[in-house]
Amino acid sequence: MAAKFHELTISKIEDLTSDAKAISFSIPSDLRDDYAFAPGQYLTLRAEIAGEDVRRSYSISSPLGENALTVGIRRVEDGKFSSYATNELKAGQKLQVMTPEGRFTAKIGELKNALLIAAGSGITPMMSIAQSLLDGDPDANVTLVYGNRETKSIMFREQLEFLKDRFMDRFTLIHILSREDQDVPILNGRIDADKIRALDNTNAIDLVGADGVFICGPGEMIEVVRDTCAALGVDNAKVHFELFTPADGQEPRKAPTKEMLEAAEQGVAVEVILDGTKRSFKLTDADQTVLEAANAHGLDLPFSCKGGMCCTCRCKVANGSAEMDVNYSLEPWEIEAGFTLACQARPTSDKLTLDFDES
Ligand code: FES
Repeated sequence: MAAKFHELTISKIEDLTSDAKAISFSIPSDLRDDYAFAPGQYLTLRAEIAGEDVRRSYSISSPLGENALTVGIRRVEDGKFSSYATNELKAGQKLQVMTPEGRFTAKIGELKNALLIAAGSGITPMMSIAQSLLDGDPDANVTLVYGNRETKSIMFREQLEFLKDRFMDRFTLIHILSREDQDVPILNGRIDADKIRALDNTNAIDLVGADGVFICGPGEMIEVVRDTCAALGVDNAKVHFELFTPADGQEPRKAPTKEMLEAAEQGVAVEVILDGTKRSFKLTDADQTVLEAANAHGLDLPFSCKGGMCCTCRCKVANGSAEMDVNYSLEPWEIEAGFTLACQARPTSDKLTLDFDES
């Protein structure tokens, strides 16, 4: 089923650090099924800010079984949504919230030794994963390596300490700080290849022994940890990561190919199927993605990041062909099966049907 927005009420807002807040939404009983989630998934929030429809995705920090869903939001420089959310939102206010999405998920019952590696606000999905694993499976062990600049920038600090006390035997918490000295030298610095190797060499973590390695943080850190896992022989299938911003920032759109230009020149007859309804429009600009053209024709297709990362705009090419500029989220089997990302797809045929109802 395609993701949908509903208006939810903010039940609580709490300070996590001086620049980060936890925002909780109450879920009405008739929407409980729609907002059922897997630990590690995210919510896309939507608001009109200075006349612009702005959407941003934030990971859920709540463990399974909570009635309210909480996301962690850190204010980023020039961040339209994060500034609005951390400065202006109040408890009791309503906000458009998309049903949970995302594939960075942990399966309770299957993971017995999970290794979570996070930096900064990358901790948010790890809160959900760690608590859900520890609460949901008495045999699950979790090690969390969490990088920050200093103690005061640690998000969910109290909740992490509480978790450590509750699960003393099964939860190991390793704080790495880059701008504050800790007594043990290995805990100082940044999470990079040397740090991961050093932690592994001293058995503070067990990369090969972990049955799931989850990485979330800045793109550069994710790449380095992923590469280090590969170099140390960790099975690729066990390594999961959440990329919300590409390592090099948003890439410029590629020039249209000959096929894209020819198709747009003739005018592509695009048909989209969403929630069982078919809608059609013509795409005549080879620089436009299907998502942009649909929006220009007043169609409200699901999307969030617009950067090929979140997979919210995933759909199946039921007829015709299209090429994506970038893809950070679809798996090879999905591309093989004909799935595409509407925010990246540009038609290369004169007719194109995209089915958002296919899963
Ligand atoms: S909107 Fe995020 S991948 Fe398309």
